[in-house]
Amino acid sequence: MKKKICLMLLLGGLCSSSVAKDYLVSTPNTSLLITAVPGEKSKFQYYGSRIEERDIQGVYDSGQAFGVESYPVFGLNTPGERAMAVAHADGNMSLDLVVEEVRQYEDAGAQTTEIRMKDLVYPFILKQYFKAYKGTDVISTWVEVENVGKKPVTLYRFASAFLPVPRGDNWMTHFHGYWGAEHMMDEEKLTNGQKVISNKDGLANTETDNPSFMLSMDGKAQEEYGHVLGGALAWSGTYLIKMDVRNTTFNISAGMNEETSHYILESKERFVTPEFAMTYSTTGKGGVSRAFHRWARQYKLNQGNVLRDILLNSWEGVYFKVNQKGMDEMMEAFSAMGGELFVMDDGWFGDKYPRDGGNSSLGDWTVCKKKLPEGIEGLLRSAKKHAIKFGIWIEPEMANTKSELFENHPDWIMRAKGRPLSTGRGKTQVVLDLTNPEVQDFVFGVVDNLMTKHPEIAYMKWDDNSSLLDYGSSYLPKNKQSHIYINYHRGLNKVLERIRAKYPELVLQVCAGGGARVNYGLLPYFNEFWTSDDTDALQRIYMQWGVSNFYPAIAMASHVSADKNHQTGRILPLKFRFDVAMSGRLGMEIQPKDMKEEDKEFAKRAIAAYKGIRPVVQLGDLYRLVSPYDNKGVASLMYATPEKDRAVFFAYKISHFINMIVPNVRMSGLDAQKRYRIKDLTAVKTNEPCALHGKVISGKILMEEGIALKNLLKSEYSSLTLELEEVK
Ligand code: DGJ
Repeated sequence: MKKKICLMLLLGGLCSSSVAKDYLVSTPNTSLLITAVPGEKSKFQYYGSRIEERDIQGVYDSGQAFGVESYPVFGLNTPGERAMAVAHADGNMSLDLVVEEVRQYEDAGAQTTEIRMKDLVYPFILKQYFKAYKGTDVISTWVEVENVGKKPVTLYRFASAFLPVPRGDNWMTHFHGYWGAEHMMDEEKLTNGQKVISNKDGLANTETDNPSFMLSMDGKAQEEYGHVLGGALAWSGTYLIKMDVRNTTFNISAGMNEETSHYILESKERFVTPEFAMTYSTTGKGGVSRAFHRWARQYKLNQGNVLRDILLNSWEGVYFKVNQKGMDEMMEAFSAMGGELFVMDDGWFGDKYPRDGGNSSLGDWTVCKKKLPEGIEGLLRSAKKHAIKFGIWIEPEMANTKSELFENHPDWIMRAKGRPLSTGRGKTQVVLDLTNPEVQDFVFGVVDNLMTKHPEIAYMKWDDNSSLLDYGSSYLPKNKQSHIYINYHRGLNKVLERIRAKYPELVLQVCAGGGARVNYGLLPYFNEFWTSDDTDALQRIYMQWGVSNFYPAIAMASHVSADKNHQTGRILPLKFRFDVAMSGRLGMEIQPKDMKEEDKEFAKRAIAAYKGIRPVVQLGDLYRLVSPYDNKGVASLMYATPEKDRAVFFAYKISHFINMIVPNVRMSGLDAQKRYRIKDLTAVKTNEPCALHGKVISGKILMEEGIALKNLLKSEYSSLTLELEEVK
């Protein structure tokens, strides 16, 4: 095979080439190899650990090269899975794409390879992109198609990515769930046939399955060793990830879910698919997670490297019973515990129809004067008085049939023409038609009006408590009703782009009746996500474990709630609840009035301790040590700085029997040569810390031998938060 690498890419400039054949797309630890020759099909050859130019011949000689089309299309000689299928205006349903040119270029954040292909007969252009994000091990891929003819083309299949994978003892890890139990981890061996992860909610796409997966090459994936490919689709709408597994071949396709969503591409129109992001790890699932976390903090979260405030959210404390005095008291009590931000949740708005429950007022984003006679100004005054920041809840994509918005703009509601309207929460909740630019302006205005009047608002929780119920838009023409699932999210993205352009520092949390919108389509506009409405710390260990596979701790909102959990009814020690919440973005969701004085004292110490470890948890590298899914009675994880001079270790006793086996836990991510002083951060009695407190132990012992948890986690729901600091 003739090889020529685009040297300009390596030199960091822009280059264009029409003769080069092998194109290597590399990150510090991974590489992807494509061959492209003008007039021929572009071929996917390799994706794995990093290779250099000198290794390329070895990829071919060792029989590793896939040699399959990098973007197979439907119509000619097509007995297998295809990434794209279209119908031209004359009814011809075939495509025949060949390479026209390849360009490689770079900017501050990435090196991008663009393969431009054209149909040999029809006026149809497709560009396939591979983008290597600098300073991370993530490469993303997507396509853009352009109808350069005079008549419309209908797109029936339009995957973002099509990836061949070596067939072996492949296991897949993915994250599934339901309300209150989102992001639960599932691991299975892939057998011949098809495995599909998909979503059809229309609005919130991660309550059931998350659009992400890990795929091991040689047996069940392990945390710190073995070859694992990780992929996530950056899209907030309906999606489809398909593993097509055969005896001899295996490919993955990922993209929007095309079912009921064929797209009519007008003359000169372009259609861009969402990014599919991937990494390849030779250090197991842990390597995949750390690569995604770094990428997210650097590129895919708003202000991904800025430490997050510790907040109290009012929801589980007062639910809809919001009023000036109650909010003021919560702010005062939380500020006294060391809290930094207070968020008033649902229940504050609706003047004609006060929001006293889930059945009215969405859309009427004016303060309910009965509850809050001093308005938001009064709340901001309280916040100032108690030296705390102030945030607010909104659900701007929605209306209730009992609302002024619904009365004034019935045409802004998603509904199937001529049929009764389906309703959701409170039997009155309906969805606004975000395909309509007027509605987009309105939704932008919800944030803009609040911020214009009250620029001191520091935080907004953006909720969505409905699926897309009725399929129908009075804005879209009748031949484009099938665009709803796609155009809704494009409309939403447009709104969010405007918000970000005008309010880059406003902290936004994405929430959807819990953790139903945890995806990299929306996260670039948000600072964090609400992980689940289930705040039970025991169940959170499982959910947070799942979500940590692709999403970083800095974005994972984790709140300490009431003694008796409102979702499960379980009573857990306050220390356990804090130790779980401190492994993410710590917050509280509790009525401080109901807390005992000693609990407030404990909370104050835990909050102060979290402030100390916050940079390690929120910006450090995650190492998952003992999985709650392995039924060992304990779960444990830790974060370490890249310099390995500081770390935070968490362990939880999650089942309890007399004389049960409690394993030693080996730490990870430390430096074997360094020595670390251990500090117990959340001892219930400060004069009775755990036995490890104050000990200095080498990284070698901590990582190779570990620590004996049986001596530390003795009682039911005992737990630990330990800080490790290098002793110089
Ligand atoms: C659902 C969210 O997940 C909760 O945290 C809360 O904000 C409610 N909505 C409010 O209605």
